[in-house]
Amino acid sequence: MLKRKNILDSQDLSIEEIEEIISLAQDIIKQPQEYADLCKGKLLATLFYEPSTRTRLSFEAAMLRLGGQVIGFSDSSSSSVKKGESLADTIQTVSCYADIIAMRHPNEGAPKYVANISKIPIINAGDGGHQHPTQTLADLLTIREARGSFEKLKIGVCGDLKFGRTVHSLIKTMSRYEGVEFVLISPKELKIPSYIKEQVLDKNEIKYMEVEKLEDVMEELDILYMTRVQKERFFNEADYVRLKDSYILDRNKLEKSKSNLAILHPLPRVNEISEDIDNDSRAWYFKQAKFGMYMRMALILKVLGVK
Ligand code: CP
Repeated sequence: MLKRKNILDSQDLSIEEIEEIISLAQDIIKQPQEYADLCKGKLLATLFYEPSTRTRLSFEAAMLRLGGQVIGFSDSSSSSVKKGESLADTIQTVSCYADIIAMRHPNEGAPKYVANISKIPIINAGDGGHQHPTQTLADLLTIREARGSFEKLKIGVCGDLKFGRTVHSLIKTMSRYEGVEFVLISPKELKIPSYIKEQVLDKNEIKYMEVEKLEDVMEELDILYMTRVQKERFFNEADYVRLKDSYILDRNKLEKSKSNLAILHPLPRVNEISEDIDNDSRAWYFKQAKFGMYMRMALILKVLGVK
């Protein structure tokens, strides 16, 4: 039962709940007019303490397309945070005004902390390098549309696996499906955190391998999930500059891939996918951004208990 539930971690959704959200999103795509007024009178607050294009705007577009309304900030320096207000007091206040909060914060665990204070449901829209559960919902609908099923897929995740919160949420979720294998492609400095290996992959006996060269594994992959190197999480500019172009997916590298490979990327892209493959049938990343809005529409309806 998702009604009034906080969505803080990708594990907060059961497989059955994920299926319900996907089915609802697919129905919204088919007949959006049936959903146009369902959130009339409801208010979403988007509190973004870090920059965003897709997550904030797709949450806001989702609520507006459901007939609801939106308040919030995209830059906390325009709010009373600038005057020294605590996160707890901001949440207490906003939960007097809105029905649901989507919050992005640079501190890992901040959504979990505020969920204990808020009177209304909190949705984690990204917390530091930790989790991004609603991005995973967009990723899942994309994989379902591209491949028809989640089972028996070989998924390559490539780039910044250390700081990339979308990767952490995706691995945690996809590890619950039968026969999924991961190929973890990163420079040694940006390898997946050991807690994901131990508590998710090893614990669930998921097959995985770690490699440094994308070219070595391209032909085996069903899904290739590219990520950018997360500049904002580096302590040292020189390290970022050295690692930022570790992977650039271009036509040459794609030559060896399966014809039905699905290339995903949570975006924003910096340099890691060449624009000359944007129109390739294997490129799903802009469709993925659109699916994110439909999945957030479905999630809002479920959490508000509207449908
Ligand atoms: N995928 C994603 O989180 O994008 P934004 O940072 O633009 O919201």
